[in-house]
Amino acid sequence: MPWWVEPMTVAAVLVIFGVYSFTVILLYDGEYQEYLSPFYSPQVGLPEWVPGFITAPMFVLWIPLGFRATCYYYRKAYYRAFFWDPPACLAGAQKREPRRAENYRGERALFVLNNVHRYFLYGSWVILAFLWYDTALTFFPPDGGFQVKVGSLLWLANVVLLSMYSFSCHSMRHVVGGNKDCYTCIRGGNARRRLYNAVSRQNAHHPTWAWLSLFSVLFTDIYLRLIAAGVIPDLTIIG
Ligand code: FES
Repeated sequence: MPWWVEPMTVAAVLVIFGVYSFTVILLYDGEYQEYLSPFYSPQVGLPEWVPGFITAPMFVLWIPLGFRATCYYYRKAYYRAFFWDPPACLAGAQKREPRRAENYRGERALFVLNNVHRYFLYGSWVILAFLWYDTALTFFPPDGGFQVKVGSLLWLANVVLLSMYSFSCHSMRHVVGGNKDCYTCIRGGNARRRLYNAVSRQNAHHPTWAWLSLFSVLFTDIYLRLIAAGVIPDLTIIG
């Protein structure tokens, strides 16, 4: 495979996801459908004095979008894709570097904001709690009872993938135990070490969780919009 295929593909996917995200944010009209779009959860109300071009999801989506934009894995991916800095890990890559390696000064200027990634992680937990709540609602319709529909299962798969993306985060390793020098010296040390090891194992798959969860958000949103538009039926499995 030519070296430029990966960075070009990453650039194309990120541009498509970015354009799609901002479009659905701007399209939000507050109408309630049977399913919420994952882009619109949690729902927040806006006071009437807020100008019309400002939509409710704008007050929420800066957290998951900021979480992805500052993600250590995505940083590597988009530095390569958009800045070609470096474009790939090939032996001859230095020839294509836009600047000399000795001039590299780290993440400066605006990119210093990437250091707030761990705070976006904390914010993502709040968003995930609402997403799990909204997932449960898709199994319990407002008129009572229990149902399993394809749309509900998509919501569930989406929130599981998003949770794994968050759980496998580099900053999560620090939170659960990476900040400790000695596990046997602390209360519950072994449990904490097991949790740290579990996060570390998933951390090795973080790029996979990153891409799967990104595609699941896109796919779930498109599927639910097709249901809402009456283009496809929402198949019922139980209920
Ligand atoms: Fe990717 Fe934290 S490193 S979400």
